[in-house]
Amino acid sequence: MPLPESFIQELKVRSDLADLASNYVSLKHSGKNLVGLCPFHSEKSPSFNIYPENGSFYCFGCGVGGDVITFVRRIENLDYMEAIRFLAQRAGMQVPEAEVDDGMAKLRTRVLEINRETARYYYSVLNSEEGRGGREYFAHRALKPETIRHFGLGFSPASRFALVNLLEKKGYTQNEMVLANVAFQSRSGRAVDRFFGRAMFPIIDLRGNVVAFGGRTLGDDKPKYLNTSETPVFNKGSMLFALNFAKNVNSQRLILCEGYMDVIALHQAGFQEAVATLGTSLTSAQARLMARYAKEIVICYDSDAPGQKAASRAIPILREAGLIVRVLTVAGGKDPDEYIKANGPLKFKQLLDDCGNDVEYRLQKARLGLNLQNPEQRVEYLNAAASILSTLENRIEQEVYAGRLAQEAGINTSTVMNQILAYGKKNRKKQLKKQFKSVQQQTAGLRDRVNPEKAGNLRAAGAEESLIAHILKFPESAKKIAEVLPPEKFITEFNRRVYAIIVGRITNGNTAGLAELSQELNMDEISSVARMLAAQDGISLTWPDVQEYISVISQENDKKIMSRDDSLQAEDIEDYLNRLRQQKK
Ligand code: CTP
Ligand code: MN
Repeated sequence: MPLPESFIQELKVRSDLADLASNYVSLKHSGKNLVGLCPFHSEKSPSFNIYPENGSFYCFGCGVGGDVITFVRRIENLDYMEAIRFLAQRAGMQVPEAEVDDGMAKLRTRVLEINRETARYYYSVLNSEEGRGGREYFAHRALKPETIRHFGLGFSPASRFALVNLLEKKGYTQNEMVLANVAFQSRSGRAVDRFFGRAMFPIIDLRGNVVAFGGRTLGDDKPKYLNTSETPVFNKGSMLFALNFAKNVNSQRLILCEGYMDVIALHQAGFQEAVATLGTSLTSAQARLMARYAKEIVICYDSDAPGQKAASRAIPILREAGLIVRVLTVAGGKDPDEYIKANGPLKFKQLLDDCGNDVEYRLQKARLGLNLQNPEQRVEYLNAAASILSTLENRIEQEVYAGRLAQEAGINTSTVMNQILAYGKKNRKKQLKKQFKSVQQQTAGLRDRVNPEKAGNLRAAGAEESLIAHILKFPESAKKIAEVLPPEKFITEFNRRVYAIIVGRITNGNTAGLAELSQELNMDEISSVARMLAAQDGISLTWPDVQEYISVISQENDKKIMSRDDSLQAEDIEDYLNRLRQQKK
């Protein structure tokens, strides 16, 4: 059931996009608009624009756009109704009651409740007779009781139905348990506990909700960790373990580990700024999340080969998000957990303070296994090093390292610097080429997933988009335009649908802006409409312009009909020829 018009209107008035966005993005005025670094992708120069005139935003870098509701949905990772509630709460408004039973939001609430009950249950099992194995395991890993409590660690009993039975008694359906992924459906159709006989690590989001679990086997069986897969409340690529605690440290530094146990050991040892990914390699969404709470990341992965490889992969992703990166390697121990157990927190603190930044780390890696006495290998090292240094943005930093390299290799600093600059030029050329290609593809409509017909109908689609933007800006013009241009005339299906919704709303006496459209379009579709608006920023169509666009669409329509006629004629001719051939036989 749609929300009442009056409610949406008031919510819109009370939710200023620029005001809200400035909590997440630092914005600067640029004429009548605002610009800043896009919060939805990593970039160094601002391409994120806010248009206060019509309450829309659009990023020319990643193509994401929309209104204030879309912004909240994207940045807080909420569905439509959750975003409405978020904004309503902020504006001090009550969401009309009929809407409270929104399907998806309700399911999410149920899943979160199930997770909370489950975490409570596993915690209580750990402290019961059945939990002995778990208690012994955590003791063996040197976890103190207060650490176990702090992280809410638990134990899943060996029985296959303990949790399912408990949740059923509490009124949850088996289907809900399966959706929460705390149970799976057996072949007989009955729900079975997903975790049994495992040490349980609840994963908690920034609002304190239990969103998932990791369960470690006590022995050597596989998999070592069993994790919650995707659920309505959990996406592992955008979450970090223990960020709910780490974000409160406010040290502007986070320690990024590979494993749950590493993080827990570090927190226990007093390093509460430690977080971990959830068994997958670092994503740029996770890097941007970290950038909200820190300026510097210390990567502290396992010292084995896979750990070091993962570190190399994480560095550029973190740098892209604008973070300073340092790499800490725990020599003489496989991972930070073992290191601290063997050497104590003070030694770890020393490592933390002494570890170099990622440039040094990468240079060290490039040098590994090369003999600098050998001229060929020396050249190889210098080239690799120059290529690494060419990716630095800071010229001073480059010169400092160039000086060091020059000394190491016994050559002039300027020679090294020249090589670095040459690589830099090459990088920029590559970058430009990439950018150019993507712009080209976008303008050619090749990449337009929202409107796939655009590629084959560039002229018509362009006119359609201009008209849509014009009507959104000047709703009073809708009637006059719709009289001569009914939606059926639109060539591309997506634009036709958008136009029909807008015209329909306006003729019924309703308003039609992005906020209203966002009830009927998905987020990619809204981005597309926001792009149309952004493209027409600062441009006002005159009536002759509008007429020109209308006639373009009409012409394209005629062409379509003509070509259909042509093909009919072609078939007719084919028929005729066939008949002739028949006669000759
Ligand atoms: N992981 C996983 N599934 C596996 C193995 C690992 O999801 N089968 C994830 C877990 O999040 C784990 C992290 O990858 O914490 C790092 O793996 P590993 O170094 O093997 O685990 P540790 O955390 O060091 O676990 P432990 O010390 O208990 O062996
Ligand atoms: Mn470990």
